[in-house]
Amino acid sequence: MNGERDQGGQNGQGGAGRAAHERTAGPPPIEDWNRLLDGRVAVVTGGGVGIGGAIARLFAQHGALVEVAEIDKERAEEVRADVTAAGGTIRAHVLDVTKEADVNRLAEAVLAEHGRVDVLVNNVGDYRPLVRFDVSTHESWQRMYEVNLLHVFAVTRAFLPAMVANGRASIVNIHSVEGLRGYPGDPVYGAFKAAVAHFTTNLAVTMGRRGIRVNGIGPDLTQTPQVDYLSGYEGLEDLWASWAPVGRLGWPEDQARVALFLASDLSSYITGHNIPVDGGTKAGGGWFFSPREHRFVNRPKHL
Ligand SMILES: NC(=O)c1ccc[n+]([C@@H]2O[C@H](COP(=O)([O-])OP(=O)(O)OC[C@H]3O[C@@H](n4cnc5c(N)ncnc54)[C@H](O)[C@@H]3O)[C@@H](O)[C@H]2O)c1
Repeated sequence: MNGERDQGGQNGQGGAGRAAHERTAGPPPIEDWNRLLDGRVAVVTGGGVGIGGAIARLFAQHGALVEVAEIDKERAEEVRADVTAAGGTIRAHVLDVTKEADVNRLAEAVLAEHGRVDVLVNNVGDYRPLVRFDVSTHESWQRMYEVNLLHVFAVTRAFLPAMVANGRASIVNIHSVEGLRGYPGDPVYGAFKAAVAHFTTNLAVTMGRRGIRVNGIGPDLTQTPQVDYLSGYEGLEDLWASWAPVGRLGWPEDQARVALFLASDLSSYITGHNIPVDGGTKAGGGWFFSPREHRFVNRPKHL
């Protein structure tokens, strides 16, 4: 445990931070509610498809200068072409955020172009390959670590000095509802997602005085290339009433709207929180709506 003095002094993070007049000023003005990120530089990792892809596209629609980091060349080109065709501003860098040299290259390219970063979305993550804990190995834990946690540290640290110099930034970490509840499928994956959620909370309290907000999103039940909720469940659509309290499948745009809220000044007084964007599954844990019985049951008879 650090001593109290270290927490503010040695880290250099307990100083004045904001200018005196900002401490009692009102909320930042929002000039155009249709362009909530107008002119802001936004880095999105894994921004080709799925949740990251929807975030990159929505941020660009709201005027952000989007910088995507994407491992897949075709996905990178697709998001670049989509955003450009819609009149937005974007660059897509083909790289692997789990590699130190690639992260450095990303930071250099973004800062050389803009000289600052206003928004960072750490979105990359994967539950695959799913390995049962009793047969898991050092190698499988290492892979889970690299793809779900290590790059969150690496990319955040790479951009943090520029954010501090800027005096204003919002970091949004996409983890999982499985980091916020018990996940029987793979305790190792769930542990790394929980680590991202708590890193979010810790960094928020460390950096708030510097004008940097940090919040997280815990998705669930969202249709993406990684998690295909539609295949194999044809004809069972009525069961969404039981699977999710909101009664429907989630889409990447559902996640992107919350990311926009957290990235923009709409959430200027929120930091350190993790929002489950899960159609209510975390809140409703343990209770199922039975379409057959037309009531909630906590012991479904027909699984
Ligand atoms: N879809 C869901 O229901 C769900 C549920 C819980 C958590 N999540 C989390 O949400 C995030 C996004 O999930 P998704 O379903 O959209 O995933 P996805 O696999 O569909 O999309 C991920 C994107 O990241 C890119 N990518 C993967 N590894 C990369 C790397 N090393 N460097 C750069 N880019 C990389 C992929 O090419 C892809 O474009 C992940 O962190 C995931 O764990 C999703």
